[in-house]
Amino acid sequence: MNASRWSRKNILKQFGITIGSTFFPFSLWARNETGEPLILPDNPFYKRLAKPVTAITLGAGARGTVYGDYAIEYPEQLMIVGVAEPNALRNERYAKKHSIALSNRFTDWEDVFRQPKFADAIIISTPDQLHYDPCMEALRQGYDVLLEKPIAPSEEECRAILELTKQTSRIVAVCHVLRYAPYFIKLRELMQSGTIGEIVSMQHLEPIDHIHMSHSYVRGNWHNSKETTPIILAKSCHDLDVLKWMLGKDSKKIQAFGNLKWFKKENAPPGSKERCMDGCAVEYKCPYSALKIYHREQQRTYVFDLPKEKKKQADAILNYLKTSDYGRCVYRMDNDQCDHYTTNILFADGVTATFNMEAFTPWGGRRTRVMGSMGYLEGDMNKFKIHDFRTNKSKTYKTRTTDVDHYKNEGHGGGDWRLVSDWIQAVAQHNPNLLTSTIEASIESHIMCFKAEESRINNLVMDICM
Ligand SMILES: NC(=O)c1ccc[n+]([C@@H]2O[C@H](COP(=O)([O-])OP(=O)(O)OC[C@H]3O[C@@H](n4cnc5c(N)ncnc54)[C@H](O)[C@@H]3O)[C@@H](O)[C@H]2O)c1
Repeated sequence: MNASRWSRKNILKQFGITIGSTFFPFSLWARNETGEPLILPDNPFYKRLAKPVTAITLGAGARGTVYGDYAIEYPEQLMIVGVAEPNALRNERYAKKHSIALSNRFTDWEDVFRQPKFADAIIISTPDQLHYDPCMEALRQGYDVLLEKPIAPSEEECRAILELTKQTSRIVAVCHVLRYAPYFIKLRELMQSGTIGEIVSMQHLEPIDHIHMSHSYVRGNWHNSKETTPIILAKSCHDLDVLKWMLGKDSKKIQAFGNLKWFKKENAPPGSKERCMDGCAVEYKCPYSALKIYHREQQRTYVFDLPKEKKKQADAILNYLKTSDYGRCVYRMDNDQCDHYTTNILFADGVTATFNMEAFTPWGGRRTRVMGSMGYLEGDMNKFKIHDFRTNKSKTYKTRTTDVDHYKNEGHGGGDWRLVSDWIQAVAQHNPNLLTSTIEASIESHIMCFKAEESRINNLVMDICM
């Protein structure tokens, strides 16, 4: 089949897929080298909505904006009717974008629950340590919830949320967005349908990228594991979750090693200062220089809430670098997150997996290898290759979410907005089966993270009991 024949229009014609305002074509999402598409069928349980689901966002930062933007793109599905955000600029920007009435704008998440219920659902995109209380309160007041990961910083709190969700029969979708990314959906389907025989073992790598590491886990919001959550939960709960989900087997045991090896005071180069702008002698050659990352290269500046006018931005960045943690030397922070973390996992039926989180890579993007009795699968989130031992032939598939022109947000391999889409349907139909990341389904991988951390700290192999 010629690639050009597989335009979206042709695919839709070919497979008779109807697109209304609330239907999404997931179909054309990947092609192999001959241009032949892999078909991921539309969800047959999607229904046309009579009215949009209404939601209140708690925390209008990066994630709150990603989910809120879905409402801007698809107003017939989702309407944001309230916001709680202490940062005045973000609160104002979010309220303006969603035309939120003044009476529905709050500075703190608790203020929302002092009002009578005024929406169908709550989007919880506050920092890690502010997930548990808002989620419990939302459930008590009868809201459905879109809950950012991690569910909560402790196993007890995670289990309490699960219990209350069951008692109240509400919908709680955990933002394990990789479960909704076409790439991982297809990998799982291939693994579970026996394409490479019986799965024997897996290797999964999360290369954080050294700059991302320095930004988020050395200088940024998650630099202190005690004030937020350990990196295995804060960053890698996605990975343990997707591993378990793709295998479709219970996890039995976990063992972990890891530590903070590099971003420490003893590794500070001679001549370095508290801040990169303080006349650091090695600033110009340091890969982690704040001036290089944020000022010269203008990477990751979304955290600064910069003014719209371009010419004011450079000065604003310099000002932030003088005053915020983002301008501090990476070797002189009060950080404690591991910069490398290795886990071994034993699943049911003797299947084993290794997971590595690595800070020191030049790129991000998860890499996965799956060893099966009849074949081998290897992928990097952009493409994957299947080798069949029976035919000794390989096939490579490219998965580019941009092929699906209906979805403009590609975050997490397209998973971000696909999750929102499923969640809206689940809330509207009051049917948790429309989600793959319900709280019930998501909790085991969180428990794997807690046990991994216990293993790492106490040098033990931990049993995983649900
Ligand atoms: N699913 C994913 O892939 C993914 C990716 C990144 C982050 N996250 C998680 O999403 C959450 C938010 O992360 P982010 O990157 O958007 O952070 P962020 O700092 O950009 O946003 C958090 C927002 O919450 C606000 N906030 C703080 N206290 C509040 C309060 N009392 N009431 C209401 N709002 C309050 C902050 O001012 C901030 O604007 C975190 O838990 C994070 O771990 C998930």
